[in-house]
Amino acid sequence: MAHEFKDISPNASTGAKVTNWFENRFPTAFDAYRVHMSEYYAPKNFNFWYIFGSLALLVLVIQIVTGIFLVMHYKPDASKAFESVEYIMRDVPWGWLIRYMHSTGASAFFVVVYLHMFRGLLYGSYRKPRELVWIFGCAIFLSLMAEAFMGYLLPWGQMSYWGAQVIVNLFAAIPFIGPDLALLIRGDYVVGDATLNRFFSFHVIAVPLVLLGLVVAHLLALHDVGSNNPDGVEIKGPNAPRDDKGHPLDGIPFHPYYTVHDIFGVCVFLFIFSAVVFFAPEFGGYFLEYNNFIPADPLKTPAHIAPVWYFTPFYSMLRAITSEMMYALIACVVLAAGFGVVKGRLPVFIKVAIVAIAAAAIALMLSIDAKFWGVVVMGGAVIILFFLPWLDMSPVKSIRYRPGWHKYMYGIFVINFVALAYLGVQPPSPLGERVSQVGTLFYFGFFLLMPWWSRLGEPKPVPDRVIFKAH
Ligand code: HEM
Repeated sequence: MAHEFKDISPNASTGAKVTNWFENRFPTAFDAYRVHMSEYYAPKNFNFWYIFGSLALLVLVIQIVTGIFLVMHYKPDASKAFESVEYIMRDVPWGWLIRYMHSTGASAFFVVVYLHMFRGLLYGSYRKPRELVWIFGCAIFLSLMAEAFMGYLLPWGQMSYWGAQVIVNLFAAIPFIGPDLALLIRGDYVVGDATLNRFFSFHVIAVPLVLLGLVVAHLLALHDVGSNNPDGVEIKGPNAPRDDKGHPLDGIPFHPYYTVHDIFGVCVFLFIFSAVVFFAPEFGGYFLEYNNFIPADPLKTPAHIAPVWYFTPFYSMLRAITSEMMYALIACVVLAAGFGVVKGRLPVFIKVAIVAIAAAAIALMLSIDAKFWGVVVMGGAVIILFFLPWLDMSPVKSIRYRPGWHKYMYGIFVINFVALAYLGVQPPSPLGERVSQVGTLFYFGFFLLMPWWSRLGEPKPVPDRVIFKAH
């Protein structure tokens, strides 16, 4: 339907006339601004945890802009890649800054996204009606991991090379299709020029396009259902109080209130980001590993290969799955099936099916190598996040109104995740292996047993309106 032309007084200011000229020719842009900014009502009680979404957007922009400039000088060729990065660092004007912003940006992205996800966990932001917002978020997280992994190969240093070698070889552990799949990913029998070229192509265009599409879907879905908040109270629900124009009484327009709030967050973030870029871009070997300043050498394996810090919790879980650990996993399957059969009020045919599935799973677990199950566990640790909206069955959303001990559950979850991350950077040791096995069981137990533990205890009364104290 054609938009109606809006008239403007001849006495209006030039600015107003120019705006009117554009609005009459591109009303969709103005409508989008109103729907998503000036008339998007967000809960008035947002706190510090709500800054990370905007920060993730900022880092996305930093990565795209610095990436564009890096591509102008980088050469995706196994014999030139390392040198071209050194050239960027030493000879290209401001090249060192662009490169350090991009490498620090990768780690900053994961810091921000992990905090953003943890906020979702704290306030139950994944619960109805925001399940899709969460699912798009999990898909973003997966794409981000793929993006970071492929980007890390590009400098063609020792860690780039051997890290890619280790991870691509994992795919070879998949029964039947594994070896062919690994060959397809590498484009060669070893990581080589073909691998570098395809990773470059995915890193600079394919995955960023997917990421951008997912971020747009994430935000559109969020704005359709409205934001959650630290109280987990719906401000746009059918019974929520509204003013005479129909705007929620507990909401404030995103612009200007949250643009100002987020600009403050952006300033604090840029202080910290600049401090790292200018004073500690390698960050003690955590952001840029020392071994990666040595050109890739297919004939010399580094003594200790570890992925970058943001992958290490998952890498620890992979290493935790030894053939000994398989017995612990089999015991878990027996326990779960036994519990379903003895305690579950289920029809007989379902109980028979449970026993049959458990027996088949155990047979597979005994016959396929533990390395494959390590890959399954590592992948499963990310995939399980997609199901969170249906695993959490607490009667209330926000941690504020859950039984007090839930805070300890989340506290232990974080400590466990950090411990797994720490162990993933360390060389393998017998004690580290045991701790990461217990940590892996806790990680999966936290999610898989959530339908049970999230219902335990007495929740506190949830208020009708959000709690807001002006500061
Ligand atoms: C590139 C990465 C991402 C960007 C740019 C992004 C952006 C945003 C923005 C701007 C918001 C609104 C502001 C806020 O609530 O903080 C938001 C909300 C949200 N995001 Fe993300 N996000 C990203 C990744 C993720 C991931 C990985 C997840 C979870 C797996 C996630 C889950 C959520 C949820 C549940 C909300 C709603 C929060 C609420 O209303 O309480 N996001 N996101």
